[in-house]
Amino acid sequence: MNSVHLKICNVAKSFGNVQALKNISIDVPKGSFTTFLGPSGCGKTTMLRTIAGFYEVEKGEIYIGERLINYVPSHQRNAIMVFQDYALFPHMSIGENIAYGLKIQKLSAKEIKNRVGRTMEFLGIQELEKRNPGQISGGQQQRAALARALVMEPEVLLLDEPLSNLDAKLRMTIRAELRQIQRQLGITTIYVTHDQAEALALSDQIAVMNKGELTQTGSPWEIYYKPVSIFVADFVGTANLLKGRVTQKSKGYIQAQYGKTFLRIDEPDQDVERGDAITICIRPETIDLFKKAPSDQTNILKGKIRNFIFEGPHIRYWVEAGEETLLVDVSDPSEMGIYKDEVYLRFHPRKTHIISEKV
Ligand SMILES: Nc1ncnc2c1ncn2[C@@H]1O[C@H](COP(=O)(O)OP(=O)(O)OP(=O)(O)O)[C@@H](O)[C@H]1O
Ligand SMILES: [Mg+2]
Repeated sequence: MNSVHLKICNVAKSFGNVQALKNISIDVPKGSFTTFLGPSGCGKTTMLRTIAGFYEVEKGEIYIGERLINYVPSHQRNAIMVFQDYALFPHMSIGENIAYGLKIQKLSAKEIKNRVGRTMEFLGIQELEKRNPGQISGGQQQRAALARALVMEPEVLLLDEPLSNLDAKLRMTIRAELRQIQRQLGITTIYVTHDQAEALALSDQIAVMNKGELTQTGSPWEIYYKPVSIFVADFVGTANLLKGRVTQKSKGYIQAQYGKTFLRIDEPDQDVERGDAITICIRPETIDLFKKAPSDQTNILKGKIRNFIFEGPHIRYWVEAGEETLLVDVSDPSEMGIYKDEVYLRFHPRKTHIISEKV
């Protein structure tokens, strides 16, 4: 793990009686891509603006490296923010927009020309130099805004939902491009989005926020497969959440009861006891479907197909089993709707997860 580049300790911020940030703490490793993910109004932009220095830190500390930056003015923080709406100056050409910050720093005309040229070339937007923001596409504006930030060679790059104005296809392309640029430059990046797929695809580390609080911090894999709460499980991807009870805690696994079925869950480190009410979290793509009862009866549940739809990469089934209707994704669209009426579901012991919160 790389050294910590940005450290946020117990940061809080209110607007009147709205507590936008409640004791947020996170370490951002050098060169990493860290994403704040959460629903609208959860405090993401407030977090980013506080790091950038547009809002005062009301409580807590923010460090860049060893340096406490609470009282450092925004332009001396070396943390540059790209705004959601790009905020390009409409009356300036793209070249002038990108050069603006360097002019403020009073660099020589030659140095400015070199750095602007190099950055535009790096992002493949040289031909836009003389045009105004109104004369280029959304994707090009996004790149111009990114160029305006990168040309400053910041230590920390702050991006506030930079892809949300783009259409779905372009968003996918630029997403991959952005990650490639970030990896190439090795620049510590903090990204904000409410789009869970974007967060999973881009990040080394995800911080899930809800109502001003940090709910869970972890790798995309941990956030997706080991959500600590029902909120995270539900917000990040699709989850089957079943009401269950712990019936046995053994070395290496936990046995839980769902309806009349006993399930083996290979999560021995969970902090639960026999008799505890729990939520069993199962992702739709981790469930196997069978037409006939498999010979090994471990983690098998009998169900009834209620509906199915074709979603391209997979077929999604609605299967009634016990008290719930479960979603099951079968990744073989060549076998459209082969499962009918009665089926058997199998849960994978290692891909079934316990959340100690009740539904
Ligand atoms: N300048 C402000 N004055 C008063 N309240 C504010 C201000 N900025 C944000 N808030 C409130 O603080 C909370 C967090 O807002 P914030 O903009 O950080 O959310 P967000 O997670 O970025 O949401 P979105 O995804 O919609 O951009 C919200 O309740 C919002 O109404
Ligand atoms: Mg916002």
